[in-house]
Amino acid sequence: MHVLIVGSGGREHVTAWKFAQSSRVKRLTVAPGNAGILAMSWNDPRVRLVPLDAADDLQRFAEDEGVDLTFVGPEKPLSAGLVDRFRAAGLRIFGPTQAAARLESSKAYAKELMHALGVPVPEFRNFVSPEAARTYIRGLDYPVVVKADGLAAGKGSLVCDDTAQALQAVDTLMVEKRFGDAGNCVVVEKRLYGREASFFCFTDGYTIRPMAWARDYKQAFDGDEGPNTGGMGGYSPNDEMDPTLVEKIMQRIALPLVHGLAEREGTAYRGILYIGLMLVEEAGEPNPYVLEINVRMGDPEAQVIYPRLQTDLAEIAWACTDGALGNLHFDWSGDHYLCVCATSGRLRGKKGWYKGYPGRYRIGQPISGLEEVDDDVLLFHAGTRWDEEAGCFRVQGGRVLAVVAGRPTLAEARRAAYREIEKIRFNGVRYRTDIGAR
Ligand code: GLY
Repeated sequence: MHVLIVGSGGREHVTAWKFAQSSRVKRLTVAPGNAGILAMSWNDPRVRLVPLDAADDLQRFAEDEGVDLTFVGPEKPLSAGLVDRFRAAGLRIFGPTQAAARLESSKAYAKELMHALGVPVPEFRNFVSPEAARTYIRGLDYPVVVKADGLAAGKGSLVCDDTAQALQAVDTLMVEKRFGDAGNCVVVEKRLYGREASFFCFTDGYTIRPMAWARDYKQAFDGDEGPNTGGMGGYSPNDEMDPTLVEKIMQRIALPLVHGLAEREGTAYRGILYIGLMLVEEAGEPNPYVLEINVRMGDPEAQVIYPRLQTDLAEIAWACTDGALGNLHFDWSGDHYLCVCATSGRLRGKKGWYKGYPGRYRIGQPISGLEEVDDDVLLFHAGTRWDEEAGCFRVQGGRVLAVVAGRPTLAEARRAAYREIEKIRFNGVRYRTDIGAR
């Protein structure tokens, strides 16, 4: 089978690594990929990178090169309709259609749909007028979260403590347009208090298979301080989750959403569904409320979930595109996997200080120590570049690379990941030191 993976992040590196374990995969192309995947290709003749991004180039490549299955990593090509285009051309592709991807690309749509389907969501209202949003907020007696409707790289949800902050959030999103057109519409929703959790599943539109649980760390600094990031690390399994809770999420959220989408919108959701939840203690038990839906795998959650997956990812993706997921049995390793992301942190540059990821960060620094990292941990690149002339990798993004360790216990995985990440050196390297610390 010739598999094409679309994307270039750490998530796509671990996805490519997982596909490469499949004996069915005879050719594995990643578009455009990253330097870590390039390094895979040095040792595995099946793997290659193609510098393609545009939908028509990807379609032409898939047709000309006999791609059997395309797997889309990030949300952008999904919400731009890559799946619809491939399907219309008779090409097999894993991921939701543009209409289904609106669950992530329009928070207002997702909230309306879930509300209509009876899926538990916090109380909310959608607004296209800042004045109407302000009037609504002034009339509330509880704190809110103000969310940009459109895609904002995970930064468009502003959590507010009081009315003044909420009014400021409306200005930031709708008037100052910090995230551009993503703020043309906002969702104002009641702020819930509880435990945040993410639920990931594969679905073919009928069958839903939950993945192993993971915990991620969104804040930049230890102790969950500082600004939100794409994720600074994580671990799986997350023992805080139990089968009763999984059943509640399946019955109250995942099944009504996937089946409701098919019935109401005529859209079978095929791909990965990522449900961001708040678990609220009510009458002595946790009840799940949906904060947001994403239509792709989490990053860096993929880096700790996929290594635990014992079932062939190529087989899963194929079954999803065929509507045959119900025939597959899933196996997960009992080992604990923990991931720590090394980022480009605070550093002085020619024009003063760079605050560091998720703020402005420096790129270009050479990375050393990678060859010293033990073979018994995994290294996944996100923002790196291979410098052929200098013979080294260089920093090319905010999240640079991730060290992932799998061990029988979380404590052992944590020790191994932190022991190995210390060997990685570049100017400005910074990572959280409390991933997996109880
Ligand atoms: N780690 C959070 C995300 O992928 O959106």
